[in-house]
Amino acid sequence: MVAQAIQKQDKLTILANTVQSSAQVISEHLKKTGLPQPSFDANAPQTLFPPDTTDQTVLNAQHELLSAAEMLRALAHGPAEYLTYHLFQYLEIIAFRYVYRYKIASFVPLASPEAPPGTEVPTISYDELAANASAAGYPVATSDLKRMVRTCASSMIFCEPVPGRVAHTASSARMITAQMNDLVGLGIEEAFPAVEKAIDAIEKYGPAAQEPSQSAYGLAYNTKGKDFYTYLTDEGGPERVARFSRAMKAINDNAGYGTQNVADAYDWASLGKAKLVDVGGSRGHNSMTIAQKNPEMTFVVQDLESVIKEANATVVPSLPSNLAGKVSFQAYDFFGEPQPVHDADVYFLSLILHNWADKYATKILKSIVRAMKPGARIFILDGVLPTPGTIPIAQDRALRSMDLAMMVLNNARERDAEDWEALFKQADSRLKLETVSALPGSILSLMSLSLKA
Ligand SMILES: C[S@@+](CC[C@H](N)C(=O)[O-])C[C@H]1O[C@@H](n2cnc3c(N)ncnc32)[C@H](O)[C@@H]1O
Repeated sequence: MVAQAIQKQDKLTILANTVQSSAQVISEHLKKTGLPQPSFDANAPQTLFPPDTTDQTVLNAQHELLSAAEMLRALAHGPAEYLTYHLFQYLEIIAFRYVYRYKIASFVPLASPEAPPGTEVPTISYDELAANASAAGYPVATSDLKRMVRTCASSMIFCEPVPGRVAHTASSARMITAQMNDLVGLGIEEAFPAVEKAIDAIEKYGPAAQEPSQSAYGLAYNTKGKDFYTYLTDEGGPERVARFSRAMKAINDNAGYGTQNVADAYDWASLGKAKLVDVGGSRGHNSMTIAQKNPEMTFVVQDLESVIKEANATVVPSLPSNLAGKVSFQAYDFFGEPQPVHDADVYFLSLILHNWADKYATKILKSIVRAMKPGARIFILDGVLPTPGTIPIAQDRALRSMDLAMMVLNNARERDAEDWEALFKQADSRLKLETVSALPGSILSLMSLSLKA
């Protein structure tokens, strides 16, 4: 483990060796499986490995590499310079926000994916780029554009292969299309004004506040008693709601936070003809993934009325024929009426409870418990915060960032093992945590709970 290794001397060399050996494991895996080596090319695949990769050796190598490289970077900077480097991210956000808001990525030409290797990368001059963005109505001047794009380029988002001419890199090209671009927008437009209010919210409402409307987001947007989801749905307008759903899809489609391997996280087939209720299941992507591999099971996806309306209009008509009749959608507010489905074998909560402080998370669980038939179980797919130092820092950091995101948006939190146990006890003392298993290729874990007689 890297963390132990760096207790020894010559940390630079030890970490560099870890980088070297994990890079080799990754590179050989890519060669063996015929996948392209990682590159900054605009047409590079979206993820280093296909998101459904479950080979733990290569996934571990990726995490070890990222963690060792980050520590190496800190050592190579030296303490003061590293702190400054870390701090300056608050400034880099300006450039990222500019590029997002004025859709700069969409005005930079992209090479055709069919272009033969060695084809010259298409570029555009700053003047032309500014003119195209201005023609689309954005206040883009060449001088601002240059400093913003060059700031991004120092993080490998855009590049300048010829002085004065901009081209895409693998990451900037992701900002042309919806979903990844929406994820960027959700962070730097929707959430960022709240980030700035995070400490003010603690000072105003106190450190123990659990009300979603007393969150940094509530303060920044003056949500008047509404939680993030209700506010966004009632007042955000269709474009912000759609951006949120597409951003969630982007998270799901990419390794790291994704739930795409949910079908491999448990032996669902062992449940036979089980009925699964996907509480807060959004557009049903998790249910559909499990359904594809477990044709005996049936699914009810529940979510807020607006989400289900959208799913009925867009998802249901395009359901693959083998899923028709197996996956249905139901409008249900888990803080409103009691859970309407009483004959389910599984109640599934994926990335739900981390959205709510204990006061509300227990309400969601209580409502399920009241509906459970004997033998029914609850499955929770969510983060379990690790004891510091027990997982590679790259994964640890992702979970810690998610924890702060939950705090900012809804006064909610990620939980460690003890927090989860305490939550279950608070919801119902009969709830028993049976299993906890890591979701392959993700920082999430799947917990299963039964209800003791
Ligand atoms: C972070 S998303 C998780 C979606 C999905 N379960 C997944 O794993 O990707 C949270 C979901 O909870 C839904 N939600 C929020 N408040 C709700 C409520 N009061 N009742 C039902 N669903 C709600 C949201 O609409 C959203 O789809």
